[in-house]
Amino acid sequence: MDWGMKNRLSRIIKPETGRTVMLAVDHGYFLGPTNKLEDARSTIVPLLPYADALMLTRGILRTSVDPEKDIPIVLRVSGGSSIIGKDLSNEGITTCMEEAVRLNVSAVALSIFVGTDYESQTLRNLASLVDLAQPLGIPVLAVTAVGKELGKRDVRFLSLSCRIAAELGASYVKTYYCDEFEKIVESCPIPIVIAGGPKLETERDALEMAHDAVEKGAAGVDMGRNIWQSPHPVPMIKAVRAVVHQGMSPEEAHQIFAKSK
Ligand code: R5P
Repeated sequence: MDWGMKNRLSRIIKPETGRTVMLAVDHGYFLGPTNKLEDARSTIVPLLPYADALMLTRGILRTSVDPEKDIPIVLRVSGGSSIIGKDLSNEGITTCMEEAVRLNVSAVALSIFVGTDYESQTLRNLASLVDLAQPLGIPVLAVTAVGKELGKRDVRFLSLSCRIAAELGASYVKTYYCDEFEKIVESCPIPIVIAGGPKLETERDALEMAHDAVEKGAAGVDMGRNIWQSPHPVPMIKAVRAVVHQGMSPEEAHQIFAKSK
């Protein structure tokens, strides 16, 4: 790995633990004003000191994060569809690499939609993005999207998607946690981080998911709603950090959450 690529990746996946707590706030790129992200700045700012990296679009970066902040940016560069449109998977590359460099990003992120009508298009988007980003030393995060069909989050589908992302040159991949998650890790030669998915019933549930994922080989989380849709987002991200970086059990981490709250 070239120096710039390695350096950028090390800003996200911390060499001390080999793990990361990425904060995902890119949801508006297809969901519009998501619950608790309507005023993105007020949600993001208190959480910044506890995030290893921030995943978002250029629009929310420019309007809602001060450039003086020392936070690695993972820039979402795919989109083009909305939750009310015909097909969520009909995505293209929405941001050029010149813009990514101008914004001093540590990585760029793009969704692939395996098994959909736009599978080929989104996989070729990934390959093109790797071709554009690699010469600049910028890592590419591939997101294994499932569109509206959350039921697709099983080991067979996610292993397939993660492996294809790695084969096409992604630097790391974001997927969902599922039963037999270790099988996804075993067959994927690049680091995997997990998305949180829709808000779970309790914070304890989300901590357990993060714990099980890292125990089975994930390099951390790229979590959004289970942090900032919690009534206590800062205590929650502190607890997630304890699980990911300190290897705490869900019970121990939940005590941190309860105390900090
Ligand atoms: C979804 O399309 C976005 O890429 C999110 O960044 C991702 O789903 C992670 O956020 P959450 O933990 O809320 O699922």
